[in-house]
Amino acid sequence: MSSPVRFALAGFGAWGKLHAQSIALNPDARLVAITAPSEASRAEAKAAYPDAQIFADAAEMIASVEFDIIDIVTPSHTHREIALAAMEKGRHVLLEKPMAITLEDSKAIVEAAAKHGVKLAVGHELRLSSQWGEIKNIISRGSIGEPQYVLVELSRKPYRLGASGWRYDQSRVGSWVLEEPIHFFDLARWYLEGAGDPVELYAYGNSRDPQRPQLFDNFSAMFKYANGAYAVVSQTLAAFEHHQTVKVSGTKGALWAGWSGALDRTLEPSYFLKVFDGENLEQVQIEKHSGEVFELREEIARCIQMVRGEAAPAASGRDGLWSAGLCLLAEEAIRQGKPLPVGQLIDG
Ligand SMILES: NC(=O)c1ccc[n+]([C@@H]2O[C@H](COP(=O)([O-])OP(=O)(O)OC[C@H]3O[C@@H](n4cnc5c(N)ncnc54)[C@H](OP(=O)(O)O)[C@@H]3O)[C@@H](O)[C@H]2O)c1
Repeated sequence: MSSPVRFALAGFGAWGKLHAQSIALNPDARLVAITAPSEASRAEAKAAYPDAQIFADAAEMIASVEFDIIDIVTPSHTHREIALAAMEKGRHVLLEKPMAITLEDSKAIVEAAAKHGVKLAVGHELRLSSQWGEIKNIISRGSIGEPQYVLVELSRKPYRLGASGWRYDQSRVGSWVLEEPIHFFDLARWYLEGAGDPVELYAYGNSRDPQRPQLFDNFSAMFKYANGAYAVVSQTLAAFEHHQTVKVSGTKGALWAGWSGALDRTLEPSYFLKVFDGENLEQVQIEKHSGEVFELREEIARCIQMVRGEAAPAASGRDGLWSAGLCLLAEEAIRQGKPLPVGQLIDG
């Protein structure tokens, strides 16, 4: 029997605590260390995980603890520095999305993983969902033919502030497109994988608050492929609760999935998935609960397999680079007010 994979966790905020829980729940994992700068978070981490070493500084944790993989769940502007420090020590990395808030930083992280020969997984946990992941299986089985149209849409209540308000500060969050729509770019690109790489992108966005015009409450983007297939990614933060929709139409049939909860992290969501193969309409039975709390547990399990060399990450560094790149290009398209070529975004 293999020994448990040792996780060091950077960040013990709203999402980091759920990472800690998912690690602690997995019998093949051990949470050996946690970093949180504030005294209050450190005290909370110590009380919840008395066997873990607690640090105020991620660099100190990386330098002094023996671990196999670092799980980085800190404000997005800190990702690059922490990821690079861990990689230089030869540690594998699970890095929350967005990989970083600029394309340059994201590329530096992917390059560092290659240089130091470590594995990198990016936190696009929706790929591991019993619902959003099942859509990929349905497309791969050819049930709806070649996908020609993908819509991924979310309407929800406003974002949380984040520790010391980082999520409402553009210099630390980068943009709100990098927060949630990044998952939808990832899903849409994954569903349309058979069409190659996207070739062109256009976007609109607006804000309710004149104090933060660049942090969009409403955001929509469209991107297309050489074969004519295209995707629409759309989000409003000016709504209520949490309601996500995916629609895919193919050359033969179509599918429609919906997820609703009072909150994104509810343990009692409602959800459905309907598939029309051109003749019959089927309501798909979803075996496990759908929702990000459940997907996070799958993500930790997949990272354990990744560290042990048994599986590839659900979303690789290259996937993370693509999703961040499309978000940043969408912002540029809004600034320029015109469609932009995707071109050499990732490989240039
Ligand atoms: N995949 C997903 O679905 C998903 C969902 C939510 C968030 N995220 C991503 O996860 C990250 C964290 O989001 P969150 O909502 O958990 O934010 P949060 O609630 O604000 O928590 C951030 C945590 O990081 C700690 N921290 C701040 N600077 C640090 C540093 N330099 N080194 C180590 N720890 C540091 C904070 O410490 P204190 O508590 O001591 O202030 C806090 O514990 C972001 O990148 C976000 O985009 C991903």
